[in-house]
Order: sequence, then C-alpha cells, then structure tokens
Amino acid sequence: MVESSDFRSKKIVLGHGGGRMPALGFGTLIPDPATTISATKDALDAGYRHFDCAERYRNEREVGEALRLGLAAGGIAREDIFVTTKLWNSNHRPERVGPAFDTSLERLGLDYLDLYLIHTPFAFQPGDEQDPRDENGDVIYDKGVTLQDTWGAMEDLVDQGRCRAIGLSDIGLDELRPLYESARIKPAVVQVEAHPYLPETELLEFCKANEIVFLAFAPLGHGIRPGPLEDPVVTRIAARIGKTPAQVLLGWAIQRGGALLTTPKTATRARENFDTSALPADAFDEINRIETRQRFNEVVKTGSPGFIPRPAQ
Ligand SMILES: NC(=O)c1ccc[n+]([C@@H]2O[C@H](COP(=O)([O-])OP(=O)(O)OC[C@H]3O[C@@H](n4cnc5c(N)ncnc54)[C@H](OP(=O)(O)O)[C@@H]3O)[C@@H](O)[C@H]2O)c1
Repeated sequence: MVESSDFRSKKIVLGHGGGRMPALGFGTLIPDPATTISATKDALDAGYRHFDCAERYRNEREVGEALRLGLAAGGIAREDIFVTTKLWNSNHRPERVGPAFDTSLERLGLDYLDLYLIHTPFAFQPGDEQDPRDENGDVIYDKGVTLQDTWGAMEDLVDQGRCRAIGLSDIGLDELRPLYESARIKPAVVQVEAHPYLPETELLEFCKANEIVFLAFAPLGHGIRPGPLEDPVVTRIAARIGKTPAQVLLGWAIQRGGALLTTPKTATRARENFDTSALPADAFDEINRIETRQRFNEVVKTGSPGFIPRPAQ
C-alpha cells in the first residue's frame, strides 16, 4: 500500500492497547485560560482530532469546555477525537493513580481517555502540591515508589476499561527498556522532545521495532529562536518547496515515522500547522544531516518543566 503524503488525515494504529492516533496532535500547554479555550477551538476547526493534555498544565477544565463546545458546534463525535492526559509526578504512588485519573477525567468532562501517560519518570513527594520543595528550594523526590509500581497501577486502568492505552513521557531508552520488558501491558506511546536538533534516533528505532508510537513534542523547538525554525537548511528548503519553516519541520517529524504535538495559538497558525505533508526525499535527507544538537526542555533532568505559572495564592 502506498502511504499518502498528506499527513492531515494520517492515523497511526496503536500496537498496544486499542485505537488509532492522528499523527498531527494539538498540545494544550497554554498558561492563559482564555487562550487555552480559543486555541483549542481553533485547532478543532482547523481539523486537529488529537489533543494532548496534562493535570500539570492546570487547564484540563478549559480544554474540556472548548472540546465540548467545539464538538457540539461541529457535529463531531467523541469517538472522532483522540484525547490524552498525563499523571503528574506527585501522584506516582499506586493508590494515587486511579484518583488522579478520575479527577482529570472529571475536569475534562469525558467518560474515557484514549491515552494516559506517566508525565515523567520522576516521583515527587506524594500529595496535592505539584511542585514540592525543601527549605533550600530543591525538589522533594519520593524514593518509596518505583516506575514499575506506578506502571502496574496504569495497567489496572486499562484492565478496568477506563482508558484504552497507556504510555510514558520524558523517558530515555535506559529506563524504557526494562519497563518495556517487565510490563504486562506494553507502553503504546512514548512522548519526548524531538526535532532536527534532538532527533532521538535510537529511541525512535526502538519504538518502531516494538510497535510503540514515538510522539514528538517541541517539533518546532518550542518556537525558541534561534532554533530549528531559523535553521538555514530548514528555511532554504521552505523557500524551495513553497512551505513555511514550521510546515517543513512538522512534515519531517511525521515522515520519519512518528506522530507530533504542536501548539499554535491562533486560527491562522492552526491552519498553517495542520497543512502538513511529506517532504521531497532530498529535503528529508538534508534535514537528517543537520548536525546542530540542542535540547530545549530541561524537564528530563528534574521532572519539573518550570515554566507553568503557579495560580495566584
Ligand atoms: N511531555 C512533556 O514534558 C511536554 C513538554 C512540553 C510540551 N509538551 C506537549 O507538547 C505540546 C507542543 O508544545 P511545544 O512547545 O513543544 O510546541 P511547538 O509547536 O514546538 O512550539 C510552540 C511554539 O512555537 C510557536 N509556533 C507555533 N506554530 C508556529 C508557526 N507556524 N510558525 C512559527 N512559530 C510557531 C508558538 O509561538 P507563539 O507562542 O508565538 O504562538 C509557540 O511558542 C505542548 O502543548 C504539550 O502538549 C509535552
């Protein structure tokens, strides 16, 4: 079968668990509540059917409201969208996983999730404080729980039919391999930072070999400049093939065999980023040869993204 080069309708069958994930995903890491609602509705209007959320983003309620309104206005069924949310670091104790899941579901106003991810492999002190710190300002980790313990509670959610698939985020191969080996229900998805400056090729190949969807966040390098959006190879290709630099980066991310998350905040950008297709083979290879290496998100070091504003006290 010849694969379509138009990625707008591309869906990836999950090898573990049920469902099909639209390759083009919309991420909801948007600190402002009003922008969360408008951007989520704009994304739905532009054609996105995959929405990535997290309890840590503190806006599941706004995303849920935008989805409810958008689905009703567009005559779109719940089954036609794919919704993910994530378990935060302070809820890794197995007895906290089910309640955290239920609370996210309630905030989103949904009755099931397509995918539930462990947001990071770091366990923080259990409790309602998302960002527990000691008197020196250092993160308080929880040494009393392993990633395997938390995974067991995630598996229970699938057994109970409360979500269709489970996975991990911000994880490297060293931690993924043993978890994959020991898991009764294998991770369906791994969500990590990936773009031409951080291609994570070894992890991508492991995922492909084991039917795990490799889901790239920051495909535009979080929009940080200088970054991949201004890379001369990317801008030259964009001019040559009549696409924008963002469309080139998004096309590359899917063409290498993964899915992606992007966060356009306006209707115009939502349409631009959704209009994604495969690159000519020479352009794809040129991007693969970029040698600059840069990680933009430090969450993999501490589990703490650090750029989510705290609610007013
Ligand atoms: N698992 C994790 O730890 C983790 C961490 C981070 C993100 N994520 C997920 O990944 C999602 C994607 O976020 P991201 O920051 O990684 O997305 P991204 O798409 O790489 O970057 C978003 C930034 O790029 C800019 N941008 C968007 N479209 C553009 C375009 N067409 N041309 C130029 N600039 C453009 C935006 O600028 P403006 O602000 O000016 O619109 C925004 O600042 C998040 O929403 C979240 O769901 C997960």
